[in-house]
Amino acid sequence: MTEECGQTSRRRACTLAAAADDVLLREIERLRRDRRAVILAHNYQIGPVQDVADFVGDSLELSRAAAATDAEVIVFCGVHFMAETAAILWPEKTVLLPDLEAGCSLAATIDADQLRAWKAEHPSAVVVAYVNTSAEVKAEADVCCTSTNAVEVVRGIPEDKEILFLPDMFLGAYIEQVTGRKLHVWMGECHVHAGIRPDDILAAQAAHPGAELLIHPECGCVSNCMAHLAWGDLPADRTHILSTGGMMRHVRKSPAPEFVVATETGILHRLHKENPGKRFHPVSDAAVCQYMKRITLEKVHRSLADLVHRVTVPEDVAVRARRAIERMLVVV
Ligand code: 13P
Ligand code: SF4
Repeated sequence: MTEECGQTSRRRACTLAAAADDVLLREIERLRRDRRAVILAHNYQIGPVQDVADFVGDSLELSRAAAATDAEVIVFCGVHFMAETAAILWPEKTVLLPDLEAGCSLAATIDADQLRAWKAEHPSAVVVAYVNTSAEVKAEADVCCTSTNAVEVVRGIPEDKEILFLPDMFLGAYIEQVTGRKLHVWMGECHVHAGIRPDDILAAQAAHPGAELLIHPECGCVSNCMAHLAWGDLPADRTHILSTGGMMRHVRKSPAPEFVVATETGILHRLHKENPGKRFHPVSDAAVCQYMKRITLEKVHRSLADLVHRVTVPEDVAVRARRAIERMLVVV
């Protein structure tokens, strides 16, 4: 085959793929209307899924969106614990997860039996559970938190109370440093964020010396970065430890033209889209959550067409988990 012919067939393949995407998008649109559905997507979803969503946000914003929507069907483009949170808050709605294999390595680090055993060792402690946990674990917790409000949730607990914080050890260490409180911290981690090391941040900072640094508090570098901040190796005025929603808000109002981003790379789609004049550099191209990336437009379409996969939580578990989530929602 000649080079010209090769190029022609590639162009034809591209045109056909674009036409197929168009049909798929139109079908999603029709089904969304017919089903009275809303599509929610986390900031780590692939670009086309973010683009088709009614609302894109971080885990706290998505919980609030799920609680506020009057749609009958919620297609949750995120991971399993997020869809479960929506099902707990709104049990009469149909909550769909387009791929049941979209799990979370962090949520998998603790189950309800392990938490009950830990609580038995500290019977008077207050249990603070990050939302990245199963419904059964939330049901055993006193209050939930996300990376947006974890510090405020802990600050709201009386000083004389022992606290069990789970399951992210880096977020736990970060909260200890910010609040000055000693927590019992579960030794769990998210494999994506744990892979972002202090040296990666220092290298990115050296490569882009004028850029602002945005670091997610789940990162394996976070407590170490706070030490580097104190030593002056990192610019205190240009380093910000933020949830993914916090990053979006910060970039919107910051006059800086350039940012180094330490979190899952899916957020770069939204950062570029909403801030076209600014430049963004991921600290690590390898920071990709394969669970978040399981959701595709085809699966969103199937989800709406066949109403799959419905996520439900048994009522006895949901009642207790809801209490912990609702306590969080009144904090910030
Ligand atoms: P936020 O969306 O709260 O920043 O959390 C990130 C995350 O890892 C969700 O899985
Ligand atoms: Fe879980 Fe980490 Fe993926 Fe978030 S990025 S869903 S914490 S594995």
